[in-house]
This record gives sequence, C-alpha cells and structure tokens, in this order.
Amino acid sequence: MVASAKMIVDKDFIIGEVDKRIYGSFIEHLGRAVYGGIYEPDHPLADEQGFRTDVLELVRSLQTPIIRYPGGNFVSGYDWKDGIGTKESRKKRLELAWRTIEPNQVGLNEFADWCNKAGADVMWAVNLGTQGPDDARSIVEYSNHPGGTYWSDLRAQHGYQQPHAIKTWCLGNEMDGPWQIGHKTAEEYGRIACETAKVMKWVDPSIELVVCGSSSRGMATFPEWEATVLEHTYPHVDYISLHTYYGNKQNDTAAFLARSLQMDDFIRSVIATCDYMKAKKRSKKTMMLSFDEWNVWYHSNEADSQIEPWQVAPPQLEDVYNHEDALLVGCMLISLLKHADRVKMACMAQLVNVIAPIMTQNGGKAWKQTIFYPFQHVSVFGRGQALVPLIQSPKYDTKEITDVPYLEAIAVHNEADAELTVFAVNRDTDNALPLQVDLRSFGMCRVIEHIVLEHSDLKATNTADAPDRVKPHRGGNAAIADRVVSATLPKASWNVIRLKLESSH
Ligand code: AHR
Repeated sequence: MVASAKMIVDKDFIIGEVDKRIYGSFIEHLGRAVYGGIYEPDHPLADEQGFRTDVLELVRSLQTPIIRYPGGNFVSGYDWKDGIGTKESRKKRLELAWRTIEPNQVGLNEFADWCNKAGADVMWAVNLGTQGPDDARSIVEYSNHPGGTYWSDLRAQHGYQQPHAIKTWCLGNEMDGPWQIGHKTAEEYGRIACETAKVMKWVDPSIELVVCGSSSRGMATFPEWEATVLEHTYPHVDYISLHTYYGNKQNDTAAFLARSLQMDDFIRSVIATCDYMKAKKRSKKTMMLSFDEWNVWYHSNEADSQIEPWQVAPPQLEDVYNHEDALLVGCMLISLLKHADRVKMACMAQLVNVIAPIMTQNGGKAWKQTIFYPFQHVSVFGRGQALVPLIQSPKYDTKEITDVPYLEAIAVHNEADAELTVFAVNRDTDNALPLQVDLRSFGMCRVIEHIVLEHSDLKATNTADAPDRVKPHRGGNAAIADRVVSATLPKASWNVIRLKLESSH
C-alpha cells in the first residue's frame, strides 16, 4: 500500500494574520554582501549611486518588506558615525568581528536609499557591544527627528532633509554569545538594553524595539537568558529575537530535513518564556517574536577558515545551496507560518552572497540559488491568514527526533484576492507522497497552478554558468473534485498549490 497524507483546511481555524514582515531579510557588512553584492560602483549595471541594478531587480522580485542592517556580529564593533558624511572623509576601519577592513562607503543614508529602491523598510540594529544608550539615542535623532537639533540638522546637511522614519530597531546582536564584541551576561545586557530602549523611545515614541534573545536554542544559557532579559526590559520592548542555522555536515538528509521541528520547539519555548514573564509582570502586553536570523549555514565553514584576514570584502560565508537546502528552507518558512500569531517578523539570513538566496560575481553575473524559490513563493503567495494545518501523515524517526511527518504543510487564505495557497514539502527522499486536502468550509475552487521544485540529485546547485539547474516548474498534478484537492508530491519536493476561490459556499 502506498502511504498517503491528508490535510484538513478550514477557513475558520485561523492561526493568525500573516505579518508580511516575516518575509524580511538581512544585509550585514560581511564578506561580499555590501561590497560586490548590493553596491559595486564599477559594475556595468551599477546605477548613479553605485548600486547593482541586476541585484536590485532580483531583490524586488522577492518582495521582502524589511531588511535588517548593518549586522550581525559586525554591528557590535561598528560606529554608525563612520558611515555618514562625504564618502571621501570616511575612515577605513579594522573590522574585528569578521577580521576584515571596512571602507565605510555604504552607511545609514545609502542603505536607506537602497531599501527605498528595493521596496523594503530598514530594520536597524544599534551597537550594544562597544557603544550604549548615548550613540543609540543619537542615531535615532539623526535618522528620525524632523530637524532643529544637532543630529537632525547634520542629516539635512548630508542631503537628507526628510527623516528616514526607521520604525524597527534591534537592541544589539546576539549579546549572549562569547564571540560577540562586548558580550554580556543576561543581567548586564538586560540593564543596558532597558536604559537604551528608554532613551531611544524618548527621542521617537513611534519606534518599535527588538531585544536580543538567545543566538540559538543550543546555547547553555537558553532560556534563562530570555527570562532575565525580559525581567529587565518587558515594558520597554516589543519583540524578542530568535536566531537559528542548520547544516547537514553528517550527510543525513532525513535528519537534516527534520530540523524545522526543532525550530518549532524553539519558537514554542520562547513563547512560553514570554508568557511566563507577562504573568509575572501582570502585564497586558503580549510579547511578539522576531526570528531575525534563520537559514541553512555550513557549506562555507571550511573555505572561511582559509581566508586571510584584513581584506576588503573577501568571499566569506558563501554557501552554495543545493536542492535539499531548499527543502529545509521551505520547512522553516512553514514553521514561521505555523506561528503567525506570535512571530511577527523574521529575516532570512542573509540576502546577497553571504549565506544568501542571491549570488553575484564581482563585475559579472547575478543569479538565484536554490533557496531563492521557496522564499519567493511564500513571500509572494503567503499573504493573508495562516490556517491551522490538521495533518495526518506517515512518519519516520531520526537519531534525535521521533515521529517526523513526511508531510510538512500549511495553507494561507488570502481573502482579498480570493485565493488559498497550500505550501507543502515531501520529506521522503525515496517515494512520492499522495496528498488529499479537504477544503470542507470553502466553496467552489479551481486550481490556478501547482508549482513544484524537485530534482533527482539532492546535492544539485545553481552556479553562474548553470543558473537554472534547480528551478521550479508548473507541472504539478493537483486537481480538485468535491472540495478535495488531490495531488502527488514528488519525492523530496517543495510544492505550491494555488487555488482560486470562486464562491464563498
Ligand atoms: O549571519 C551571520 C552571523 O550569524 C551574524 O553576523 C551573527 O549574528 C550570527 O551569528
């Protein structure tokens, strides 16, 4: 008997409204993300500001609404003032987080311009490693205050009369990590984050703040870190961050594809810790989550250990992603949607060249990595209400996780466009999985398209010379009869089944 899976989708079983900011991304001053990635004045396709238009076009096609910047580990040693004023006057600095030279040719104003061109908002991280409340309040004043003060007038002198109106700010980066410049204990960080949050919001009460949670679920201080940090900051912040990266160093694909269940568990634990603190504080506010670094990261580890220090924009963290990575990325996106009620922002880390969906050659081409596709599909079609995925699926066990469903899936209902989209991964690398989706509460529907990302080689990659080796096709076999969608999910595949809702009953 062929194993099959079932899913019930009911329009009244709503997890939550999908906040489009869960399709955020991240650009750090690291490797070739900025220099050679988004910015390369000598490139034949550079615009008048030196931004690569080929890269901008790819970024726009992802419809990513918010981009975290300028780090990452980089931010904990960064002086934001090095990145403003005339480009000729900007200092070159030793960058200690990634052991490079930072030329500071892109800073706050240029990045805000680039984000405008990309159709995204800036999410700015302040330095709480070597700096503190004073620099944080000054940058909010420089960026957001209308005028008539030292910092806001300086912005105008720099050519930016209008404030950038940056709404979302991160209070440092991964401050729990011993690798972080200015690493702190939870007590130390909680106190400085609280005082920094207060002065930033006094400068601009309309901003929202993200406090640092743990840099992974595997940290020894997790989840005590979250509890202590929130003890200090709960009334002053709006989100707590989560970060996670997975790899397949053991070459165990079944275990690798199961990792998103650990992401689910991580999210659930952080929600529990937030809600404990809500009760303890007798607070009316529910803390939301910002999963502001997530991805696959391991392919480049060995190459990175060979890179000579103190270069400008060396090729760091340039993971070349394969087909199985795209499947896990699809599962991770489904994890975010499964928690749409509490995860309100998320950033795939990162966007260009550095563990990224977009790769470039200096002076040459730009192309899409395998992971580009699930991210683009969910960002474009995953807008609306995430619906509870009631799933029956055959399961398997790995060394670390038991009862891993072969089917990972969720549906998003876009009422405004009268569309329902099912996102589904078949984790089974040997067999196709027949799927039935019961749409009991929906009226007449038709299948718009069934997009499939599949490949006979799990390790297949896209390169500058073969950019389309792994790419989706529209030949999936989803069909609908009596309000039940039937589809075959090919082995090891990512699927997007788009349905048009033609009547409400
Ligand atoms: O995204 C790469 C790095 O991963 C970031 O700089 C850091 O925050 C995390 O450890």
